[in-house]
Parts: sequence; C-alpha cells; structure tokens
Amino acid sequence: MREGYEGTGPGAITPDGCAVELYARLPVGDEPDVIAAAVPARARILELGSGVGRMTHALLERGFEVTAVDESAEMLERVRGARTICGPIERLDLGETFDVVLLASFLVHAGDVEVRRGMLRTCARHLAEGGCVLIQREGEDYHTDVPRERVDPAGFTVRIVSAEPVGDGVDSVHAEYVFPDATWTQTFRARPLTREQFEEALAEAGLKVDRYLTEDRVWVRAVPMSGA
Ligand SMILES: C[S@@+](CC[C@H](N)C(=O)[O-])C[C@H]1O[C@@H](n2cnc3c(N)ncnc32)[C@H](O)[C@@H]1O
Repeated sequence: MREGYEGTGPGAITPDGCAVELYARLPVGDEPDVIAAAVPARARILELGSGVGRMTHALLERGFEVTAVDESAEMLERVRGARTICGPIERLDLGETFDVVLLASFLVHAGDVEVRRGMLRTCARHLAEGGCVLIQREGEDYHTDVPRERVDPAGFTVRIVSAEPVGDGVDSVHAEYVFPDATWTQTFRARPLTREQFEEALAEAGLKVDRYLTEDRVWVRAVPMSGA
C-alpha cells in the first residue's frame, strides 16, 4: 500500500486503496458516451488505470480496441476482451502509439507531483500523430463540498466523508461505499488543481487543452502543443 492510501472491505485492495470487488460491482455511468463522442469510431485506445474494466468493457462494446493498463494484477484479471498490461502508469513505455490515451478516475490529481508528471508524460509518449488524450479531472467543489453523499439507483450510497489538508497542497480524502451486504472505504491523497494549475501540468508534458468536453470541465480533450 502506498503511504497515505488505504482501503477496507471484502476482497483484494490495490496499492492506492481501491477494492477489486467494489469496482466489479460499480455500474458504468456516462463516461463511455463522453469518450465516444470525442474520438473517431473504432479508435485504438490506451486506457490507463483501467481497474476491472468497468469502462473498458463498455468501450469494447462500442467497437473501440482497448489496451488496459493497471498496476493491480487482481484488477486486470477481471478484464475481458482487451489486451492487458500490468505496471505503473508513470513508467509505462510500450514503444507504440495510440489514437487515444485515456487517463480517467481523477488519476491526474495524484498527491505526488512526480507521479502526476510521469503519468502525463506517459500520455504524451503514447500518442499517435493526430491523436488525443482524454482526461477526467475533479469537479471544482470536490474537496470543499464535504461531507456529501449520493444514493445510486443501483442500490448503494457513496459518501465523501472528509477531505483534510495534509500539507503541500494535498488533501487526504476519505470515501465510503455502502451496499446492503458490504461496505468498502478508501482513503487516498489528492491534489486539487485549479483550471490554471491543471493547464500548467499539461504544458509541462507538452500537452494543451483542445477543448473541455463537459460543462463542468471535468472531461478534457488534450493534444500535443506542437500539433493540432
Ligand atoms: C479508482 S480506480 C478506477 C478504475 C477504473 N478507471 C474505473 O473507472 O472503474 C483506479 C485504478 O487505477 C489503478 N492505479 C492507480 N494508480 C496507478 C498507477 N500509478 N499505475 C497503475 N495503475 C494505477 C488502481 O490500481 C485502480 O485499479
């Protein structure tokens, strides 16, 4: 387990505190629709931090070809129909390029700046000519509108219980997922990024915003600075 990261609940827990059994249960939301609307049909997608394939499977069903990367072998064991690669995103170098690189699940908010830099460089390094990076960032009030909860129609409740500063601009976030028969928790480090800070982080990796895909600016399409 990484320092500052923790998970509780049934089943295997990844180094960043995610529970494999929880992610196997979580329904996919509108993410695949947002992605499909922003990229060419049948694009080759490199999905970073795929987990059990919650989004991977929906993307495969829409006709995309997906390579799924995660540092947890236990997560990747659940992925069906995609090539899987086990290892840290920040050090990935496949020697090949993709039409689309996907960095979702707020991974760009990694508490460790070096991890974030490595992740964004990985995105840039794997982009084919004319390709794009799709990033899912946190909503603006993610760390301030706390505690908050959402009751999902699928029958569980997600709570962001607290977000406490631990220094150097990083918060320790504590989340709970309560199902009728089981509860999982995750504690993780997240660095809030203003729009300016996010765009600076992209620029460090040679990337720039092409456009924000959603009104809340959570989903972003980025391209190389020298390109498009
Ligand atoms: C919050 S889960 C989200 C999984 C998936 N994207 C989804 O939406 O269902 C984050 C996943 O990223 C993986 N992960 C986190 N940091 C990573 C890193 N530095 N390198 C590789 N995988 C990482 C974890 O193992 C976990 O499976």
